[in-house]
Amino acid sequence: MNILHVTCSPRGESSESHRLSKTIIGCLLQANPAATVINRVVGATALTPIDEPYAMSQQALADVTEAGSIALSNGLIEELQLADVLVIATPMHNFAVPAALKLWIDHVARVRRTFNVGAQGKTSLLRDRPVYVAVASGGRFSGLTARQPDFLTPYLKAVLGMIGLHDLHFFSVEGTAMGPDALNAARDHTQQAVRDHFSANPSVEANAPSQPTLFSA
Ligand SMILES: Cc1cc2nc3c(=O)[nH]c(=O)nc-3n(C[C@H](O)[C@H](O)[C@H](O)COP(=O)(O)O)c2cc1C
Repeated sequence: MNILHVTCSPRGESSESHRLSKTIIGCLLQANPAATVINRVVGATALTPIDEPYAMSQQALADVTEAGSIALSNGLIEELQLADVLVIATPMHNFAVPAALKLWIDHVARVRRTFNVGAQGKTSLLRDRPVYVAVASGGRFSGLTARQPDFLTPYLKAVLGMIGLHDLHFFSVEGTAMGPDALNAARDHTQQAVRDHFSANPSVEANAPSQPTLFSA
């Protein structure tokens, strides 16, 4: 089993989202000790921005080209295609995903490669597979005590759904800026939620190949 671990915090391995994603990967490895983990760090300036050849390739009747950032995009898409399980570690930045993760998404959500556009809308081209999203946020964005909007969760559901990834599982450590007691309580609560999830779903299998789905978020 191949696990693709995408991390995007500017705080690297010290980050809360990375820490949570490692807990998830620990559970995956417990159930699948022979699994391979590919670490794809996309934080800070790790990825080259998309450029003109890439933008041109997204147009109708575009020439097939390997120019500019297309080669990088090809590599990132191949890495995603080979993954049986995807683990994304992300902080919340301004109610949404950080720019660095958005850039990775811009590289992998590509017309004629991971989705198609037709008269009825967009159809996905990737086979579905489990996706675990480890979120860290300074304040709370879910539940009755949330005091801010959450564009991160619906955005990831929509854009990953567009390319065929629907089997999403979100875990979050919320309130990292609310002091050490709140942080420790949030960590304990979320770690328990992760453990409960994997106890209830011990065998994580790559999903059966799926037919392209019409995007209708
Ligand atoms: C640019 C920026 C924007 C942020 N925006 C939010 C936000 O909208 N909501 C929130 O709860 N926390 C926000 N935070 C705080 C981070 O989500 C919080 O520090 C989180 O724990 C960072 O996770 P990490 O350690 O994985 O990077 C922001 C932090 C930065 C640097």
